[in-house]
This record gives sequence, structure tokens and C-alpha cells, in this order.
Amino acid sequence: MPVKNYLSLAIIAIAITLSAHAQSNLSWLADPLTMSDGSKVATTKQWQKRRKELLQFFTTEMYGQQPARPANMTFKVFETNKNALGGLATRKQVTVYFNGKTDGPQMDILIYLPNKVKKPGLILQLGFNGNQTLSNDTAVRLSTSWVANSKTAINNKANEASRGKNPNRDVEMILNRGYGFATIYCGDIDPDFDDGFKNGVHALYPELQGRSDNFTTIGAWAWGLSRALDYMQTDKDIDAKKVAVFGFSRLGKAALWAGATDERFAMVLSNESGAGGVRIFRRGKGEDIKHLCTSFPHWFDANFRKYMGRDTVLPFDQHLVISLIAPRPIAIGSAEGDLYSDPEGEFLGGVYASPVYKLFGLEGLPTTKWPGVNEPVSGQIQYHIRPGNHNILTYDWQQYLNFMDKHFK
Ligand code: GCU
Repeated sequence: MPVKNYLSLAIIAIAITLSAHAQSNLSWLADPLTMSDGSKVATTKQWQKRRKELLQFFTTEMYGQQPARPANMTFKVFETNKNALGGLATRKQVTVYFNGKTDGPQMDILIYLPNKVKKPGLILQLGFNGNQTLSNDTAVRLSTSWVANSKTAINNKANEASRGKNPNRDVEMILNRGYGFATIYCGDIDPDFDDGFKNGVHALYPELQGRSDNFTTIGAWAWGLSRALDYMQTDKDIDAKKVAVFGFSRLGKAALWAGATDERFAMVLSNESGAGGVRIFRRGKGEDIKHLCTSFPHWFDANFRKYMGRDTVLPFDQHLVISLIAPRPIAIGSAEGDLYSDPEGEFLGGVYASPVYKLFGLEGLPTTKWPGVNEPVSGQIQYHIRPGNHNILTYDWQQYLNFMDKHFK
């Protein structure tokens, strides 16, 4: 055989070995339906035990401890306008005083409810940059919390020019489809920088720091989402049993963890949450644990650092976090150009969580084959991938609204 042929044979052999290796990474994935002592989970009752075990594992090893709902927390509805957005919606603005003190850590909730629907369900978004950046609605209170400096924020305080700078142009579409839309600013809960956990709600819980399972920033954001849901349960104009928790990217990681820890969330919408979100680490594609822990040391707990460099041999993976949401529905959105989030890895997160849905007699993802762009697949777990980059676009919202129609109507 000519040398050239030997060479191509050798290349093929190497390629097969490499792909077998990539496969075997995944074949070692932890089984959601096997307890840590090796016993099998065969009933939904046994699953409750396994769920507890997994919840404790991820709380300890990754997302950190969270405090309970504060006993002295109060809510103040500081604005209600029945004629918002040209009469389409009722706008409410609420402040959550986490420790009941008006000069303590606090969070504003901006809520739009469609006027044509009585007691609607809604999307609760964890948002970037302050509620006023959602649109040009000048009645929205300007955030006074820390924001990163930019043309619209001087000395880390947002100014009037920040209105509408991070818009959701699809709020009216959401309202017209019969759902409310609420948003909170992540920085009201905990500013997104590493300050040694002194600011935001962390200031209230010093005892949860200086330990390996410390209260983290992603943990705080998820906790803040639960506090917004606490308010919603008190508002007779909202169907708090139909709240879909939404987050994009780093905030998608937090929304996922909120859905995992708080079973009152009826649905999770995870948009391009990537590493530390729905994506399988073991594939070793896209962002790795070392990058997460070194670029954003405040996001995950101290324990998680020991997994740096161990992505492809990890003893757990993110399908287990998704499975904590079962049997509740979760929609996963990816973008073709968002390779850093590893779109196929996000899909596989759903695939490997599906056996838990099956245990409940439900179809998780209806396929194990990664679908093409604009070909959403939908069971109790939904997945879509669209062309384009890391973003949240009208097409994404449409997929999430279709999913809500399927489960909430
Ligand atoms: C960074 C980070 C990601 C994150 C993203 C975002 O790229 O590495 O993990 O999802 O920011 O929040 O936009």
C-alpha cells in the first residue's frame, strides 16, 4: 500500500478513537435514576428521595446554600396603572424589602398584565441593567442599584439615558398572547461583580460566607426570583400557579437553578444558559469550569473550584439539574452561532434528563437526534435552535409562548 494510503488509514483510526472517546465521555454520565448508594429509582416516590440527594449535592458542590424566605420581608405596590402600553396592559411596580427595612437591600418588580385576560399566568424574567432598560415607558422607576459603568451609567448609577437600552420589543406580543410579563433586575439582588459577597442580599447573611458551600451570586439571583414569586402569590390579579421563570445566558443559569430549587415555578424557560446552565460539561466543548470559576469567581461556590480542569471526567453533570425540574415543563433555547454555550450540549442536557420524565409517564424530549435550525421539538422538555448568535430574539419568545400555550391553556 502506498505511504499516502497508510497515512489516511492512520488519520481515520485516530478520528474513530477520538470520537469513541467523546462518546465514552457521555456514556459515563451519571444516571439520574441511580441513587449514590447504587440503588435504582423505579417509582416517583423513590425519585423524591433521589431528588433530595441531588438537590443537596448541587447546593453543596456548585450553586451554594440559600437562606430561607426572610420572615420580616415586606412588599410595597408603589404604582398601579390600568392604562399602560396604550391600554393593552395594567402596569404594577412593587418593591420587595428583603429585611423589611426601607433602607435595606431591596428589589423592584415591574409587572405588565394583559387587560383582556383575568388573572393571567406570566413570564418572570431575571433581567440585566435595570427594569427601565426594558422599554421607553417613562413611568418605570429608574434603578438606583449598582450597574456597570457605560454611557448610560456614571459612577455605577443608571441615568435617564438608560431607558430602553436593553429592550424587549416582544412584551406586547407576549401580552397579546394572553400572558403577563414581569421583570426584576439581577443587580437589585446582587451586583454582578466579585466583592467578597459584601453587597446585595449577601450583606444580610454573613454566616453563609467563609464556607465551601457559600451563598453565591447565581444562588442569590435564583433566591431573588423565588422572592418575586412570593409577592406574586399575594397578588390576586396573577395566577401564581402559572409562572414561567425565564433567564438568558448567566441569568438563564440562575433561572434554571430557581426552577430546580423552587417547585412553585410551574415552568422553566432557559435561553442559551450554556456552561453551568443546561449544557453537558463532559463534552468538553465551549466554556469550561476553569473559565467560569476564574472569570466569575462569585457565581459558584468555593467547592466548585475543585472541578476546574476536570470537565470531561466530571462525576455529575447538568442533566441532573434539569431533572430536578421534572415533571414540570422546561424549554431550552439555543442559537447556532452561540458555540461558546455549546448548543448540542444544551440539547443533550435535555436528552439525558428525559428518563426522569419517563418515570412520571411523560415524554421528556421526543427525540435523541439533535434537530436542525428552526425545527423545534416539544415534549415535556422542549428544544429549539435558531440561526444567529447569543441573544434573545422574537423567534425565541414565540417558541416559549407556544410551550406556555401547550401547558398552561
Ligand atoms: C460570559 C460567560 C457565560 C455567560 C455569558 C453571559 O460569556 O462566560 O457563562 O453565559 O457571559 O451571561 O452573557
